[in-house]
Amino acid sequence: MGFKKDFMWGVGSAAYQIEGGAFEDGKGPSIWDTFTHEPGHVKDDDNGDIACDHYHRYEEDASLIAGLGRTVYRFSICWSRIIPDGDGEVNPKGIDFYKRLIDALLSRGVTPCIVLFHWDLPQALEDRGGWLNPESPMWFKRYTEVCAKAFGDKCKLFFTFNEPQCFIGEGYYHGANAPGKKLPMSDMMPMVHNVLIAHGLSVTALRELVPGVKVGYAPTTGGTAPITDSPADVEAARQALFRIDEEWWMWNVPLFSDPVMLGHYPEEDPFFKKYCEFLPENYMEDMRTICQPLDYYGQNIYYAHLWKMGEDGNPEYVKKPTGYAKSLINWAVTPQALYWAPKFLYERYNTPIVITENGMACHDAISLDGKVHDPNRVDYIHRYLRELRRAVDDGVDVAGYFHWSFTDNFEWCSGYTDRFGIVYVDYETQKRIPKDSYYFYKSVVESNGENL
Ligand code: BGC
Repeated sequence: MGFKKDFMWGVGSAAYQIEGGAFEDGKGPSIWDTFTHEPGHVKDDDNGDIACDHYHRYEEDASLIAGLGRTVYRFSICWSRIIPDGDGEVNPKGIDFYKRLIDALLSRGVTPCIVLFHWDLPQALEDRGGWLNPESPMWFKRYTEVCAKAFGDKCKLFFTFNEPQCFIGEGYYHGANAPGKKLPMSDMMPMVHNVLIAHGLSVTALRELVPGVKVGYAPTTGGTAPITDSPADVEAARQALFRIDEEWWMWNVPLFSDPVMLGHYPEEDPFFKKYCEFLPENYMEDMRTICQPLDYYGQNIYYAHLWKMGEDGNPEYVKKPTGYAKSLINWAVTPQALYWAPKFLYERYNTPIVITENGMACHDAISLDGKVHDPNRVDYIHRYLRELRRAVDDGVDVAGYFHWSFTDNFEWCSGYTDRFGIVYVDYETQKRIPKDSYYFYKSVVESNGENL
């Protein structure tokens, strides 16, 4: 069977990770500008002031993306570039930048795909309580409307939030990411709820303002896979994907996706039962807003944890084998993640699946021949996409795959040390060098995955 004819082959990026131009043309500061300028948060105290200088080099980047073939480019908008204080005046220069980017993509045959929020909340809104402020869903609605009116004539593909698990959990609970807060559980549940309402309002606004729009959502999780194909182990992996672990509560699917996709929280889950008292009293009344039909269920998937069914009838975590294959940052190479997670997610949410991020950090360097050879990443893409095709062949409706990421970039708290790109960036010169994986991915795109 193989991938559909109109399968979306894509690459992804995020504004703060690539743009630079952090203080140019009237842009307001975001929480990442503030956070990276406080010492001690980021490796080598690096920041995204310049990053990949995409703000000035977007034409070159658009050409490189177009060089992959018929692709879709998933990029995020920096909210404070277009509305500097998040909720007030619109900055025409910010709007103009994204219009020029969209034109540069379209004129080269690349389809633009906007992610409205990839973590860089305007600092002015954080100062007003950020996502804990009950007004925050309305701020996001207004921001969506500005984007829809400015870009919706040419861009028809939108995702609302990227990885709410991560920006809430790492930003406000563990405090590792911006804004670096460590808030209690009693704040987490209202924050999750506000973000979910914001998502629903945003979808509604996009449908009203952008004719022909396709909308998705892009949460994340560590996927799960069974250790064998036995029905019991498969069931163990399925249950493990849809439960909430008390210790790692933020890295889960159902708390962030059941309300959006099914119109209710995972009310049977022990974690949810314990903490739902922190939600607003009439939280069920918001479900009509939160649960909006989506064209795509996006999911960022990099690896899977392995599970088997225990003797006691409960899923049992299986330790990784000694010497397992892993990426530079120790993420396990588990290609079956792209078979099982899409399958389980499609069963539960019955909506076309898009892999919104998948990729690998490697030890990339320029070789004596001037090229960047990344055999591990080539192998990773090859193996993972074969598994995705197996899911397609088994009847899972998969609409697209976005490789993370297009260029090397500012990898949040790791600064510039971890390289995820299929295009190498020499940060001294800003020279771009397509890696071997770029050419391999190009062959995948051009053959619609027939070469896998
Ligand atoms: C994020 C990206 C990040 C990638 C690799 C995802 O969590 O959405 O922004 O660069 O993983 O860490």
